[in-house]
Amino acid sequence: MRYNEPSPLEVRVISQRFDLPNAGSLDTYLANEGYVAIQKAVGMTPEAIIDELKASSLRGRGGAGFPTGMKWSFVPRTTGKPTYVICNSDESEPGTCKDRLLMENDPHQLIEGMMIAAWTIKSNKGYVFIRGEYRHQIESVERAIAEAYARGYLGKNLFGSGWDFDLYTHTGAGAYECGEESALLESLEGKRGIPRLKPPFPAVVGAFQSPTILNNCETFASVPVILRNGGAWYAALGTPKNGGTRLTCVSGHVNKPGVYELPMGFPLMRLIDEVCGGMRNGKKLKAVIPGGSSAPVLRADECSDLLLDFDSIAKAKSMAGSGGLVILDEDTDIVAVALRTIKFYAHESCGWCIPCREGTTWLKKVLGRFHDGNGIASDIDLIGQLADNMMGRTFCALGDAAAMPTTGFITKFRGEFEEYLAKSQGVVAPQRAGSPELVVV
Ligand SMILES: Cc1cc2nc3c(=O)[nH]c(=O)nc-3n(C[C@H](O)[C@H](O)[C@H](O)COP(=O)(O)O)c2cc1C
Repeated sequence: MRYNEPSPLEVRVISQRFDLPNAGSLDTYLANEGYVAIQKAVGMTPEAIIDELKASSLRGRGGAGFPTGMKWSFVPRTTGKPTYVICNSDESEPGTCKDRLLMENDPHQLIEGMMIAAWTIKSNKGYVFIRGEYRHQIESVERAIAEAYARGYLGKNLFGSGWDFDLYTHTGAGAYECGEESALLESLEGKRGIPRLKPPFPAVVGAFQSPTILNNCETFASVPVILRNGGAWYAALGTPKNGGTRLTCVSGHVNKPGVYELPMGFPLMRLIDEVCGGMRNGKKLKAVIPGGSSAPVLRADECSDLLLDFDSIAKAKSMAGSGGLVILDEDTDIVAVALRTIKFYAHESCGWCIPCREGTTWLKKVLGRFHDGNGIASDIDLIGQLADNMMGRTFCALGDAAAMPTTGFITKFRGEFEEYLAKSQGVVAPQRAGSPELVVV
């Protein structure tokens, strides 16, 4: 089931089966074009499949927006090693809640997308890495895998092609870091979930030191419809270089938050006003976090003409990320949002590299005391410097994910930080002059 009413403005491509009776079952899937694409794929060469994906302009839905066809083309197919297909269903970025719907409502679509990837690189083994807290979704995917085996859609000699494919679930233990692809691979291999040095990237040296296709759950789920209808058809749904549709997660101060499947390039203000029924309690829009909590915030004046695709949001100096939009109204306390955000990253830093471990901890400390009325004027620049010192200097992008929103809050809402300081200094006298923390930083 979906948790919100669908909107008539949606373009239901990968969510088309979500509201059908018995959604998620193999029978419902088969009655609605299920496993048609994989049968088409086994008659195609890997190059033809990759060309179709390139034509679709499908970009990874996990965060970075990397072109999927290009990623698949990097996987060497003649190393003599086994190859693997891995689905990233760790879904832990705050504001993002769409992979869970795909796993609950249409797990066979995900399985079929992974099978097409497996056929492309002649892989015999795949894993769906699922966030540990997603008990319900784990059960749903496991039920679908069992059904697929029972009816010959997984296992040996699939579609008489001589190709075997086995699929397993693997659950994380609730660590955000394990959504980072190389930490995910470590965790899958039974080790501590910390990132690997890159390059090499997973396409070349991935699971068990072997070539691996690793994509987000929504990315895989988008593949069957591309093969059925053609890459050009899919590309035309979106904007140039940003093909197709996206499950857009909307939370915050709107009347109808939820997950809506919208074409790439859908205008942000129409999303708020027409899809989500406008701002809650008739309040004014203050800001939008456009791509999960790691995306730099945009002020309301930067949102008026914004289109929701990777390139348009990048041009606005933020990022489309994992497709989670947080809508903030005029009453929002930005300092509190900045603190809440950094608390998450400080908690989730895996501790492996120093700039991330120390940087997130110091940001939490300084933002925390600032928020609690113990800030001093230089703290505002100090927060900015701490974030700057993390950017690009950490082992994986978790450090950037913490630094980028912090810098965004400080630069876009500096006035609000200054007002906060003035107000708190009027009420609580600064208690930290000469504090050793100041000297250290
Ligand atoms: C700290 C961190 C957490 C991440 N969490 C997720 C996640 O939960 N799900 C996901 O698909 N990608 C996540 N990513 C991105 C993955 O590393 C990877 O880029 C993605 O799974 C690739 O799939 P795609 O090309 O289909 O987007 C995360 C990245 C970082 C740095």
